[in-house]
Amino acid sequence: MAKNSKKVQPKSYENNKQFIGSKLNFEGREAYNLLRTNLMFATKRNDRNARVIGITSSIHGEGKSLTIINLAYSIAESGRKVILVECDLRLPTIRKKLGLAKTTGLSNLLAGINSEKATLHKDVLIKGFDVVQAGDIPPNPSELLGSKAFTNLIDNLAESYDVVLLDLPPICEVSDSLVVSKCTDGLIIVVRNDYTNASDLEYTLRQCDLVDAKVIGFVYNSAAAKSKKYKYGYVKKYKYGYAAASKKAKSQS
Ligand SMILES: Nc1ncnc2c1ncn2[C@@H]1O[C@H](COP(=O)(O)OP(=O)(O)OP(=O)(O)O)[C@@H](O)[C@H]1O
Ligand SMILES: [Mg+2]
Repeated sequence: MAKNSKKVQPKSYENNKQFIGSKLNFEGREAYNLLRTNLMFATKRNDRNARVIGITSSIHGEGKSLTIINLAYSIAESGRKVILVECDLRLPTIRKKLGLAKTTGLSNLLAGINSEKATLHKDVLIKGFDVVQAGDIPPNPSELLGSKAFTNLIDNLAESYDVVLLDLPPICEVSDSLVVSKCTDGLIIVVRNDYTNASDLEYTLRQCDLVDAKVIGFVYNSAAAKSKKYKYGYVKKYKYGYAAASKKAKSQS
């Protein structure tokens, strides 16, 4: 585990519905639309029908779940079918963020206790945005996420959706994201302004490299933008870069 990975959340970062879906302000929504567009260009459908993308970060509280919800919303708004699968089986937050009923979820599905139908929330917030929440907290998350049942589930979902988004836990804290990365077409890493430290991010990228996880980009979350070049004066700016992907491509060429 990397040093300094236990951080206290900034006080102003409460679970706030105003940052989700249609409640988000114009600038925030535009930023997620840009993230969606960049994602579509940065990835293509492989032999599976869908793009399968994992969203992770170095430490907890960097904005992974908020990012994945708003990205999914933006994808559904563009007319594509998207499913968000909550793979943070240890500290799930999606149910609360989306105000979902407490149902069983991924862990129950993988343990063979419940069917896909029983765990699926359809058309959440907007048509075309489906969710599988984490479910009951299991004693063996890594084992479940590394199982054949998980790979089969993702392959099945990839048949019926355009995009499969996996909400993953932080890499400095548990190895689950690295285990799941093999089922994805790539990982997006969320980096939070004034919160993530460089050594944790370095550790994260090293771990991704070690398991050959493909980092397709970064979301720079919660940066206060003062630049005048943004006509509408962004309060919060989200950036999405290709730094890691292009660095890797260069080193391979
Ligand atoms: N850009 C932002 N502006 C305001 N609040 C934010 C922003 N990004 C995240 N938050 C808030 O910070 C908190 C942590 O965000 P979130 O739950 O998305 O992080 P996470 O990386 O998924 O955390 P965890 O690792 O615990 O799952 C939430 O209350 C969320 O609403
Ligand atoms: Mg989360």
